[in-house]
Amino acid sequence: MVDHPHLEELVDAAREVAKRAHAPYSNFRVGAAVLAADGSVHVGCNVENAAYGSTICAEVNAVTTAIAHGATELVAIGVAALDGENVYPCGNCRQVMREFGIDTVVVETTDGPRTYSSDDLFPHSFGPEDLGEREPPGVNSP
Ligand code: THU
Repeated sequence: MVDHPHLEELVDAAREVAKRAHAPYSNFRVGAAVLAADGSVHVGCNVENAAYGSTICAEVNAVTTAIAHGATELVAIGVAALDGENVYPCGNCRQVMREFGIDTVVVETTDGPRTYSSDDLFPHSFGPEDLGEREPPGVNSP
């Protein structure tokens, strides 16, 4: 878990970007802000879709935005709902954070921000190391 001086500012940035969420179906507006090792911060909001399964969560949006902006090492993420409700990352978001080794998660709750290690939130997870050194299968391999 990192002890970054601006960790709680991630939650503020998350709450701010939640204003831009596209959430006409759930009306649950979420924002996320990712801190990269180079100090850059990348934000994302949830973007819902009339085909509900095509919805993108705020955390996934923030992580993929960070990657698209060239951040290679991701350190922490803050998550907040616009109305200050509890917003713990869903299982899919935890897996996406895991891929990039995000180590610290600051969650907005009705009692204020709470900080968790990724191991607390997502123990015994599966990640890139678990695939080991293997060749990707060929097109016609069984
Ligand atoms: N949502 C997120 O953006 N992140 C989460 O971790 C939990 C859920 C969004 C998805 C959907 O747009 C709305 O919240 C209700 O599930």
